[in-house]
Amino acid sequence: MEKKRAQWSSKLGFILAAAGSAVGLGNIWKFPGRAYEGGGGSFLLIYLFIVVLLGIPLMLTELALGRASQTNIVNTFKKLGYKQHSWVGWIGVIGAFIITCYYSHVGGWVLRYVFSYAFEAPAIYRDSLGYFYNMLGLHADGTTSIPWTALFFAALFMLLNAVVIIRGVEGGIEKFNKFGMPALFLLLIILLIRSVTLPGAEAGVKYMLSLDLGKVTVNTFFSALGQAFYSLSIGMAILVTYGSYLSKSEDMIKNTAVVCGMDTLVAVLAGFIIVPAVFATLGSGEVGKGGGFAFVSLAGVFAEMPGGRIFGVLFYLLLLFAALTSSISLIESIVAFLTEEFGWTRKRTTIILCLILFLIGCLYTCSQAAIPLKGIWYDGVNGITHPALCDFMEYLTDRIMIPLCALGCCIFVGWVWKPESIIAEVEQSGFRFRLAKAYTVLIRFVAPAAILAILILSIFSGVTLS
Ligand code: PFF
Repeated sequence: MEKKRAQWSSKLGFILAAAGSAVGLGNIWKFPGRAYEGGGGSFLLIYLFIVVLLGIPLMLTELALGRASQTNIVNTFKKLGYKQHSWVGWIGVIGAFIITCYYSHVGGWVLRYVFSYAFEAPAIYRDSLGYFYNMLGLHADGTTSIPWTALFFAALFMLLNAVVIIRGVEGGIEKFNKFGMPALFLLLIILLIRSVTLPGAEAGVKYMLSLDLGKVTVNTFFSALGQAFYSLSIGMAILVTYGSYLSKSEDMIKNTAVVCGMDTLVAVLAGFIIVPAVFATLGSGEVGKGGGFAFVSLAGVFAEMPGGRIFGVLFYLLLLFAALTSSISLIESIVAFLTEEFGWTRKRTTIILCLILFLIGCLYTCSQAAIPLKGIWYDGVNGITHPALCDFMEYLTDRIMIPLCALGCCIFVGWVWKPESIIAEVEQSGFRFRLAKAYTVLIRFVAPAAILAILILSIFSGVTLS
């Protein structure tokens, strides 16, 4: 007898879990830096346009694929009668595996920083770059050591993931998100109030609202497109898996719009927290992006602001919740695949998988410390360059696998399984799909063309997609 498939226990449970997957490190530390680079308000406008035009239809497509097939992403295509398209699912699962290796270690560093701000804030303020590298095993005198602290916290972060995932879809993931997502919103609001009321913050707020078209280039569009995919967790199998736990009676369009809206709201709020705070404390021109920014530049912000230490702890707690709910979704999609395909138990699969992910991730953390790569770390400008392994993992997933998996889904739905099947799946719940015609054009022509453009550009030029 087939076991009954897990399901979200409520609409809110699903929305918070899907939003939890979408809202992650991408929103809080990647988005503000990108928005700044893209000219503030003009980037925001382009980003919103892309979320509405491509993000919502693509998220809907992945969720509906999962709900129609009621299975993991690799098996989805077989179950729908198109086994030859399973490669799309394989890209998703393998991509999720690679992302989790590094994402969970960065999550560990974030966890470390919660404690760092609570107990060692003065040391961070004294030399934020040195503190960061020291955590990663690269010391001021140029010597390197195994970064035990970073590895320990990455292990702890992974343990937190495992505990939630072992408890299952409803009892673990849904429950955690029901607590984690409201906590995240509360922290966002507190930090937003703190940031925009700092003396000198108005310049940053103005910048984020300004339409400086002179700063918009073709790259701005591609940067916004890549950011939107990463931020909404599109192209990584996760949404297919989460859609497969969704009840047949749910209004998928409304749910998708709410999840996309929440993700975008968090990104925009993060932009309005970070950019004004940096303008107020460090001055414009200091807004950076990526790991160095979240761990190094922000120290200057907290050092300058009254109550900075408490807000530092709150900020890293915010990042921690965001990272946890996203990494849980990444790991769950691999666990769903392994348990369903090989009949393994959830508990054993989760423990073994988390252990493997953690061990591979150790190479990522260790390569940051430049143990084998000493000497190529400081670039003299931001003080940061990425060693080869990190670059490779991020390049492969963000620039190749995510777009390829998303493109595969569009082509499959647009031309093989046909948009009518998605429309029928959406309407099964008794809701009319009013924009069905527009959806068909988007999924058959517009989305594949846009994704193909990012793929080609990212392979043949230096455009960075995340
Ligand atoms: N959307 C998450 C973020 O913005 O950080 C990251 C992510 C999660 C990317 C899940 C891809 C994914 F499949």
